[in-house]
Amino acid sequence: MAFDVEAVRADFPILRRQVNGKPLVYLDSAASAQKPKAVIEAMSWAMENSYANVHRGLHTLANETTDAYEGARGKIARFIGAEPAEMVFTKGGTEAINLVAAGLGASLAPGDEVLITEMEHHANIVPWHFLRERKGVVLKWAPITDEGVLDLEAFQRLLGPRTKVVAFSQMSNVLGTINPVADLTAMAHAAGAVVVIDGCQGIVHKSVDVKTIDCDFYAFSGHKLYGPTGIGVLYGKAERLAALPPYQGGGEMIGTVTMDEITFADPPHRFEAGTPPILEAIGLGAAIDWLSDLDRSAAAEHEHRLYARVREGLAGANWLRVLGEAPGKGAILSFTMDGAHAHDVAQILDRYGVAVRAGTHCAEPLMRRFGVTSSARASFALYNTEAEADAFVEALTRTQAFFA
Ligand code: ALA
Repeated sequence: MAFDVEAVRADFPILRRQVNGKPLVYLDSAASAQKPKAVIEAMSWAMENSYANVHRGLHTLANETTDAYEGARGKIARFIGAEPAEMVFTKGGTEAINLVAAGLGASLAPGDEVLITEMEHHANIVPWHFLRERKGVVLKWAPITDEGVLDLEAFQRLLGPRTKVVAFSQMSNVLGTINPVADLTAMAHAAGAVVVIDGCQGIVHKSVDVKTIDCDFYAFSGHKLYGPTGIGVLYGKAERLAALPPYQGGGEMIGTVTMDEITFADPPHRFEAGTPPILEAIGLGAAIDWLSDLDRSAAAEHEHRLYARVREGLAGANWLRVLGEAPGKGAILSFTMDGAHAHDVAQILDRYGVAVRAGTHCAEPLMRRFGVTSSARASFALYNTEAEADAFVEALTRTQAFFA
């Protein structure tokens, strides 16, 4: 299968719009990706033709919708090499990590250690901070180099007999660094720790097989993976999920409820209290089908080419500081511009139709590590083109002229 970016773009109606009189150049996919027609249509079709609540009804629509919802779970499980019973639907990647942190935290004692890294998103920091505050757990931070590479020797040194959980991202949302997740997992397991991976960025750009990685938990969101918002997934090894207490209480997560006691359903339903994100699961299933029809490694190569083209186009820009130069990094360009605030850079780029994110990217410890308060970030997706890469370089160069 060859990678045909124009054919891919034809699947995304929004990419045809203009912004401020210019063709949209959407370089904010790491925040949220645009949606292909297949996703939009799958969700609309369900609402127009076959929709009811799931797992509760005996009527036709309830049964059809339950099949569609559980069918999506099966598709997504196959996509990452897991079993359907190991897939918990959540409202996002953030909720997935909160769920596992709260569950694991129930059996942690004061002085137990959780090891994370300096490059984490707040979603993979704050839930562990809760355990520090509430349980007396000690939070340890694996450092990164100035290039934005995780320091593996320091990571190894920080693992010890009190390390109970090790949590790290597969790909940094700021630096684009891709971590050697299987190696990190093996190191953490050798120390007897449970491994939680934040796959929110990684799964978008890499094929993931959770059994090969051998992680205990893997969390990701739907909306970065070309699916809808309002849905995420927590993969957990069957035996790990079985040992985890429920996160929220309500309908559908119970075995029985009496006035004196409760018993719980088996995973994954134990963790899906209340009416779940039904349409969103169907939409994410459609996104997975759509992605699976593409040559994903060709798509990743395409994204890398765009990144390299932008770097080449900006090679002489001595006013630019790039955060993150890890070898083999993904197609995310975070940068600061001399004399300009990142918010101003983003707003001026918007005048040229170019959408980038600016701020701390929900990674304040990482910003401090690099001695900056914010950065701008252009993130490339499989639907971006070489012409857009060039348009970004040109718009950024003109933007710099405002501050020169
Ligand atoms: N985590 C998202 C980002 O990096 C929102 O922009």
